[in-house]
Amino acid sequence: MTGRLQGKVAIVTGAGCVGPGWGNGRAMAVRFAQEGARVWAVDIDLSSMDETLERAGAARSAITPYRCDVTDSAAIAGLVNACLDQHGRIDILVNNVGTPVPGGPVKLSEADWQRQIDINLSTVFLTCKQVIPVMQTQGAGAIVNIASTSGQRYTGAAQVGYATAKAGVIQFARVVAVEHAKDGIRINTVVPGQLHTPLVDAILAGNQSAGDVDVLLKRRQSRIPLPFMGDGRDTANAALFLASDEARFITGTEIVVDGGMSVRCD
Ligand SMILES: NC(=O)c1ccc[n+]([C@@H]2O[C@H](COP(=O)([O-])OP(=O)(O)OC[C@H]3O[C@@H](n4cnc5c(N)ncnc54)[C@H](O)[C@@H]3O)[C@@H](O)[C@H]2O)c1
Repeated sequence: MTGRLQGKVAIVTGAGCVGPGWGNGRAMAVRFAQEGARVWAVDIDLSSMDETLERAGAARSAITPYRCDVTDSAAIAGLVNACLDQHGRIDILVNNVGTPVPGGPVKLSEADWQRQIDINLSTVFLTCKQVIPVMQTQGAGAIVNIASTSGQRYTGAAQVGYATAKAGVIQFARVVAVEHAKDGIRINTVVPGQLHTPLVDAILAGNQSAGDVDVLLKRRQSRIPLPFMGDGRDTANAALFLASDEARFITGTEIVVDGGMSVRCD
């Protein structure tokens, strides 16, 4: 612990995980708590939150698990009020909830397209809508959104709803950054590439028609210049920096966490 978020109150959405291991939301909740923040670990399903608390070790008492569906603005209002009742402020908001569904415009159903926009993009709008006024009153705040390299380029799978929504997340932050800079609010985006997280294992296992999971993981690795795949802790390190006062002059931009995948063209 070095106290890089000492005294801050943070909301991290999607702080559980689809399986055992270092998912992005879990890793951010744990790392933020270990750096001194009081973390509201938000998830629609609290069944995996015990592992998040276990992984936080001595910092587990700084984490408050909170059940909330962040596609539901009334539920978000409940979250914001509960957090304010407890701490009187919200210094950091991390928008991490999101998940891909494969398919281009022909294959993807209208319902799945709408769900992809709702879960990957509208969640960011809905939480910001209610948290930014709190940060305005405080005259300070840091928001970190979790996008994906799929929002910047084609990364090997036609998932047009996900890619479009994640591109929207990146641009959302740029526009909001300019509008709310005068309020002392910073908003930035972490852009993870092809990590090895429980979410990826679950997706690959569910897509057995594409081949064996180990073969699929090797294919993902082959796109990455660094000789390993990152995990949620790498996303968390970038988010920690952007959420902390070390990034006080940084807003409206992105940190790509992809082992160099985006900059290669061979
Ligand atoms: N894993 C990767 O390789 C990778 C790569 C790029 C981007 N990302 C992005 O990272 C983010 C998530 O990563 P993760 O590892 O934490 O995923 P995860 O699926 O393991 O965990 C996300 C959590 O969000 C929760 N959740 C789902 N819908 C919710 C809702 N409506 N309200 C509240 N909680 C909800 C789930 O219950 C789950 O516990 C996503 O935005 C994803 O697009 C992941």
